[in-house]
Amino acid sequence: MKPLGSLRLGVNIDHVATVRNARGGDTPDPLRAARIAQEAGCDGITAHLREDRRHISDADIEGLMEVLTVPLNFEMAATEEMQQIALRHRPHAVCIVPEKREERTTEGGLEVAREENKLAHFIAPLRDAGCRVSIFIGADQRQIEAAHRIGAQVIELHSGAYCDAHHEGRFDDRDRELEALREMSTFAHGLGLEVHVGHGLTYDTVQPVAAFPEVMELNIGHFLIGEAIFRGLQPAIAEMRRLMDEARG
Ligand code: PXP
Repeated sequence: MKPLGSLRLGVNIDHVATVRNARGGDTPDPLRAARIAQEAGCDGITAHLREDRRHISDADIEGLMEVLTVPLNFEMAATEEMQQIALRHRPHAVCIVPEKREERTTEGGLEVAREENKLAHFIAPLRDAGCRVSIFIGADQRQIEAAHRIGAQVIELHSGAYCDAHHEGRFDDRDRELEALREMSTFAHGLGLEVHVGHGLTYDTVQPVAAFPEVMELNIGHFLIGEAIFRGLQPAIAEMRRLMDEARG
């Protein structure tokens, strides 16, 4: 199968805000990071407004809506508060993620199959407002079918288990997780869903996923912001872009 189109890179700037909030001031500024990411050739900016506002703030979202020239992918939990915020801003895309206060990051995908009715009602107004609705799920056929049934246009497959296995040297697990991502990308694409992948991706893990022809977008944050400490944000993103293009080509 030939590649279905160029692969988009969404840069997640949450952890610029994490560093800012560690001191409670204005720097480093996530909006400045977003501008640099745009100049570096990213195709979108991703930001997760958490219920506890541990990194991105309401003001950040407002600022991003004003300054961005690329689409904003607004990550949020399926709560009424977040739905109201999304409906007020109408970002290009809304990615529904599970959220637990005690977790350090988004640890797993959303349980769509168990909450199908509730989620169908939840996303309908977002779709009506013109947002592309994406659901963050594991590489699990049941969840993909449920995401399709509730009317999501996009799924984002959680690549955390694949990346963790790679970095912990569990290569059999890594290969199994990668195969699941590959199979489920094909399956979801066959249903007409647009397929994105994200979580935990690094220079070492990005290429096998970038090579899947059905995958249209990768969302990458923590590694890029960390790498920016050593080589600068623009070069960190440019290298990720190069690796993605190489894998795709
Ligand atoms: N995609 C989604 C849906 C996420 O929740 C996250 C983490 O917030 C990412 C992508 C980016 O993951 P990472 O920061 O590990 O690259």
